[in-house]
Amino acid sequence: MARLGVNVDHVATVRQARRTVEPDPVAAAALAELAGADAIVCHLREDRRHIQDRDLTLLRQTVNTHLNLEMAATEEMLRIARQVHPDRATLVPERREEVTTEGGLEVALNPDAVGKAVQRLKEEGILVSLFIDAEPDQIRAAREVGGDLVELHTGPYAHAFGTPAELREFDRLMAGVRLGLELGLRVAAGHGLDYHNIKRLARVAEIEEFNIGHSIVARAIFVGIHQAVREMVELLRGGG
Ligand code: PXP
Repeated sequence: MARLGVNVDHVATVRQARRTVEPDPVAAAALAELAGADAIVCHLREDRRHIQDRDLTLLRQTVNTHLNLEMAATEEMLRIARQVHPDRATLVPERREEVTTEGGLEVALNPDAVGKAVQRLKEEGILVSLFIDAEPDQIRAAREVGGDLVELHTGPYAHAFGTPAELREFDRLMAGVRLGLELGLRVAAGHGLDYHNIKRLARVAEIEEFNIGHSIVARAIFVGIHQAVREMVELLRGGG
């Protein structure tokens, strides 16, 4: 069964709407772990729109499973990663004006810059994942720059879900999964996944982990975080 990484950014989004202390993403992470999450994911953005430095510090102290920090490959974030030492760093592109991470990291056109960031993180003993589109050029470049894993961007599949383009996007994703494995990379996937579109992907044994945020936090508002995480774990087990 694939592992589930629960992204708690949007718990912080609700808190930041009032610049108050609740709901706390650190508490959400603990509850998600108790409900069966295999990893906790958070994205410390340059503009600090949701996760704050304090959250990351506390998550490092309290996460018992695996802390996966999504970050841009900037000097500031590399310095923070060195201090906080997450179990894994996932390099993502970041643009201030975007609502969420829109496309994958452009590795093929920037192998030197990305490669330097990968090396600096690996020197600290941090596992490095690259969030990229399921494109052959990007996957090959991720291998060349020394990434340990790729997280393939499932946004196009999620967007196409329920439309005639669904199978085409699924096949494109699968070709990316196979290429990653052939090149010796570990393969995770994420973005835009929910309780419906996960079912097809959950059957793909080659994907070792799914990272899911928005749909779990959205469901947690109504059913509580324990049940929201449990239901996703059940779907990954093939029980949906
Ligand atoms: N993986 C990566 C690299 C992401 O940037 C995000 C969004 O922060 C996710 C997974 C989770 O996406 P979603 O919130 O749509 O489930």
